[in-house]
Amino acid sequence: MLTLAIIKPDAVASRKAGKVLAHLEGAGFAIRGARMVRLSLAQAEAFYAVHRERPFFRPLVAFMTSGPCIPLALERADAVAYLRTVIGATDPKEAAPGTVRALYAESKERNAIHASDSEENGRREVGFFFAEADLQ
Ligand code: CMP
Repeated sequence: MLTLAIIKPDAVASRKAGKVLAHLEGAGFAIRGARMVRLSLAQAEAFYAVHRERPFFRPLVAFMTSGPCIPLALERADAVAYLRTVIGATDPKEAAPGTVRALYAESKERNAIHASDSEENGRREVGFFFAEADLQ
C-alpha cells in the first residue's frame, strides 16, 4: 500500500530533510516516488481544499508555498495508518517522543511533515504529485 508524505518547507530550509527521510526508511517505508517542488498558490490551495474554510487555511497556504518541499510516495504494509503513527500529532508539543514531529517540527504550523489521513486521500494525494509512470 502507498501513502503520501511531504517533507514541508520548514524541514527543507533547516536542512533536516535527510534526517526525516532516514527516519521514514528506518520505520520500514520504501521510497517509490520522490520529487522536490515549490508549490504554486493554486497547487497549495487545491491540495488543502478540504481546509478552505478553516481559520488556518491562508497561513497554511502561505507556509506551504514559502519554499521547496519534498513529496514522497511511500510503501509499507498498513502505510497510511502506520505513517500517521510515525509522524506523531499535528502539534509537536503533543507528539509522542521519538516521532518525526516531536524530533523535527518547530510548531503546529511549521510541523515538518504531512501524511495522508485515509487510504482514499492517500491515493488522491499520491496522484496529485506523481504520475503512475513516476512510481518505481
Ligand atoms: P497537515 O497534516 O499537513 O494538514 C493540515 C495542516 O494545517 C496541518 O498539517 C498543520 O500544519 C496546519 N495547521 C495549522 N494550524 C492548524 C490547526 N489549528 N489545526 C490543524 N492543523 C493546523
